[in-house]
Amino acid sequence: MKSLLLESASQPKVRLRPVGPGDLEELRLWKNANKRWFFFKGDITPAMQKEWFEQYLKRADDVLFIVEDGGRKLGTLGIRLKDGAYDVYNVVAAPSEAGKGYMKSALTALCARFKNRPVGCLVLKGNPAAKFYEACGFRRAGGDDIHDAFVWGGAA
Ligand SMILES: CC(C)(COP(=O)(O)OP(=O)(O)OC[C@H]1O[C@@H](n2cnc3c(N)ncnc32)[C@H](O)[C@@H]1OP(=O)(O)O)[C@@H](O)C(=O)NCCC(=O)NCCS
Repeated sequence: MKSLLLESASQPKVRLRPVGPGDLEELRLWKNANKRWFFFKGDITPAMQKEWFEQYLKRADDVLFIVEDGGRKLGTLGIRLKDGAYDVYNVVAAPSEAGKGYMKSALTALCARFKNRPVGCLVLKGNPAAKFYEACGFRRAGGDDIHDAFVWGGAA
């Protein structure tokens, strides 16, 4: 999974490539800038990020992508196998590139590639990103006290 390259079929065109060591600092800053929307509310330090990456590299069924256009980094999103289904995680737009449709192109390309199993994600209750997932073809399907669960319906 960690060598996978994807290109979106829809506009705006984006490319998805697995993260590498040269992306870690941007990922860390993007995630920290959006920490209120994630379960872990602390700041990720460079040491924590390095440790996470070392563990991530050992996991076969888990790939985190950088969304890009040429050399321009637009955001990130990951997919991993969990209990027989795909879990989309760590979906973050680069702060300067949010709201331009890049992440929708990326997520729909990802779901189309991984449609051999159900694709879902968890969204913290109150996160406006729920609307983003709906715009990408997901629908709400339960959840718990903290999260709403969404599943991809196969079309955006
Ligand atoms: C969620 C996130 C990745 C979306 O990125 P984005 O660049 O804004 O998304 P796009 O521009 O590709 O959005 C495409 C579609 O989603 C809709 N959308 C995105 N954010 C929305 C919002 N807050 N409210 C309503 N609709 C929204 C857009 O209107 C658009 O719909 P359309 O195609 O029907 O016009 C971005 O807002 C983000 O990084 N949020 C902070 C981190 C986060 O909460 N991640 C999700 C954790 S579960």
